[in-house]
Amino acid sequence: MKKFFITLLMALAPVTASAAGGAGVPLDSFDADLTDKASLQRGMQTFVNRCMGCHEAGYQRFERAAQDLDVPNELVEQYLIFDPEVKIGEHMKNAMPKEVAAGWFGAPPPDLTLEARLRGGDWVYTYLRSFYMDENRPWGVNNAVFPDVGMPNVLEDLQGKVALHCTPAELAHGGEGEIDPLTGKTMGGCLTVAESGSQSPEEFDKTVYDLVNFMTYMGEPSRMESESLGTKVLIFLAILFVFAFALKKEYWKDVH
Ligand code: HEC
Repeated sequence: MKKFFITLLMALAPVTASAAGGAGVPLDSFDADLTDKASLQRGMQTFVNRCMGCHEAGYQRFERAAQDLDVPNELVEQYLIFDPEVKIGEHMKNAMPKEVAAGWFGAPPPDLTLEARLRGGDWVYTYLRSFYMDENRPWGVNNAVFPDVGMPNVLEDLQGKVALHCTPAELAHGGEGEIDPLTGKTMGGCLTVAESGSQSPEEFDKTVYDLVNFMTYMGEPSRMESESLGTKVLIFLAILFVFAFALKKEYWKDVH
């Protein structure tokens, strides 16, 4: 019996292998919490205000997000849909033509509906916090996990300007020798805020957390439902167990 429980515990222990980004840079870990509606609502707000100028979420409807996130339709219509022609039942699209955008940025901004699922939350969370100043790039910034990215640092006013303290090669190797085996974090030493923005580093991490939480929801809207359904099923099974146990006792009462 003891062995059984030990095996069970080991099976349930979270796997803590540290993932690596596209450039081999270690990623900060991101744990979505789809039960935190306030976080998802803040994330949606940031997404609409700061990302949808360039990116679309062409598979996500405003109305479905409003329902799932418990936001009244009127509020979404009033604050999150800027084009009076766009109805709440429509997909979260923008009016930027792909070819024009590709000309401006070197690559068109991809649709982000499934991005968090495609790249993983860890990647997106680290990517959005890893822009740093680089005069050789057209927008004056580069990115640690996506070298030579075409996207400007659209959250710079919040985060501030970030300076790189090691060579790009060292960065790609995660600043060798400095890796904390527990967290796998190394970027702290390589990237630091040189000129503060309107948020503290902790506040900024929270803003990005909420944003990626919302992107995780978009990538898999039914996960929210299955998680809450899972809890209900477990509660049901627990109640059923009481009755099944009582019934078993009743049946076996006279056997011995
Ligand atoms: C000014 C336009 C612009 C804005 C605003 C913008 N992006 Fe981007 N983004 C781009 C472009 C262009 C690319 C493609 C870069 C490339 O391929 O080099 C991109 C790429 C990305 C990628 C990587 C996609 C991939 O997997 O290849 C992610 C993730 C992303 N953006 C997230 C965001 C988020 C989240 C926001 C809002 C906070 C945002 N972007 C705002 C222009 C923008």
